[in-house]
Amino acid sequence: MNLKHRLFKLPLGMQKLIRAVSLCAGKNKVKAYLVGGIVRDLILKKANFDLDIVVEADAIEFAKILSSYLGVDFRRHYNFKTATVLSLPYKIDLASARREFYPYSGSLPRIELSNLRDDLGRRDFSINAMALSLNKGSFAKLIDYFGGFSDLNKGVIRILHEDSFLEDPTRLFRAIRFKERFNFKFSPKTSRFLKQAVKKKALSFVNEHRLRDELVLILSEKEPLKCIRTLNKSIGFDFLAVSELEKSDFLFFQRLRSAVLWFSRKFPSQRKLEKWIIYLMGLFKNTPLPKLRQVLAKFGFRRGERIRLLSSKRIRVLDKLSAKASPSKIHKLLDPFSFETIIFFYALSSCKLARKNIEDFFCKHSKVRLKIKGGMLAHLGLLPQAMYAKVLKKILYKKIDGKITSKSDEFREAKRHLRSN
Ligand code: CTP
Repeated sequence: MNLKHRLFKLPLGMQKLIRAVSLCAGKNKVKAYLVGGIVRDLILKKANFDLDIVVEADAIEFAKILSSYLGVDFRRHYNFKTATVLSLPYKIDLASARREFYPYSGSLPRIELSNLRDDLGRRDFSINAMALSLNKGSFAKLIDYFGGFSDLNKGVIRILHEDSFLEDPTRLFRAIRFKERFNFKFSPKTSRFLKQAVKKKALSFVNEHRLRDELVLILSEKEPLKCIRTLNKSIGFDFLAVSELEKSDFLFFQRLRSAVLWFSRKFPSQRKLEKWIIYLMGLFKNTPLPKLRQVLAKFGFRRGERIRLLSSKRIRVLDKLSAKASPSKIHKLLDPFSFETIIFFYALSSCKLARKNIEDFFCKHSKVRLKIKGGMLAHLGLLPQAMYAKVLKKILYKKIDGKITSKSDEFREAKRHLRSN
């Protein structure tokens, strides 16, 4: 089967890069292949801009040739015998065809150079183990040693060998992620070996930072709730010290989902939410604060992520939001929190007034901006400068409460405050 017509549907910039790989490979007698997710998604007609190339040669040497042909930079990763050619806005990831050995379950693999067939055979699922030839005479021909095309058509996730989940238990997450993303089923064997790996507590052999990365990916999927259901059923959340989720937890996740959808529809142009953080707050809803601190540290969440996740425990703010308050008071209460945390609070609260206050914060108060800036006050010679931030905040609150509107009002207020100090 030839997928040239699908390659022509890719953005022109990507097509140009694929042609360049093909040309350089031909000139240097190197066999090159497009592999992994992009091949799967070309067949499914889904967007994917990850150019993953396998060469039956030294990938770093080939990257040197390709980057000099394209006149762009490249990065080499000696340990993994891989390289990345940066041709912005795209990048090409190049790897030497390899065989892999796992010294122990959950470890990173040791590698040995090999051919395309071995390289595809070491991969997670048949649908991710196809390649497109980029070689002269067979350009865009599909190479499918393991029945990936048929599994894609049947909607099946299938591991390639029995030890797949034990060797790399992060594949337990990947299996669920792809199953739910595409609405596929596990093959009976995949289902059996997945259960066995869970029974053998395969996840406990994996470094927590790798688990965190998988968790973030799965909760960033379009329908995280489907993934959470399947995770709960087939793997459980012991690894996060979270007990089995029950019906009431899922009702809450539905509320979270509605809150996220409401926000994204209402503010399509607003800063993109990190949806995974909101769902993770949901998973940790019943985790006590000290335990949550421990888990977040163990999994190596970054500082900004930890701060947001921990702030989801400051639910006392909901009591204050449940009473009538001026717009500036609501602003003061909510402004210190991230949008992710506020959306979590929105889903958590069943008080109409609190929810209305949060909606007003998003729709009105959080958008109010002053026309004057600290720099302008300095320009007017107003002193003391150390007070600017505080004064600007006070003026902002007046504006939020509708007590002032114009730029000259703002200046007048600023002068008044600075003189009185
Ligand atoms: N892969 C694997 N086992 C893993 C991770 C990756 O076999 N634990 C292989 C698969 O062939 C996969 C490819 O490496 O297709 C690239 O991995 P990645 O970029 O993580 O996955 P994609 O399939 O591109 O998935 P996504 O669409 O989510 O980016």
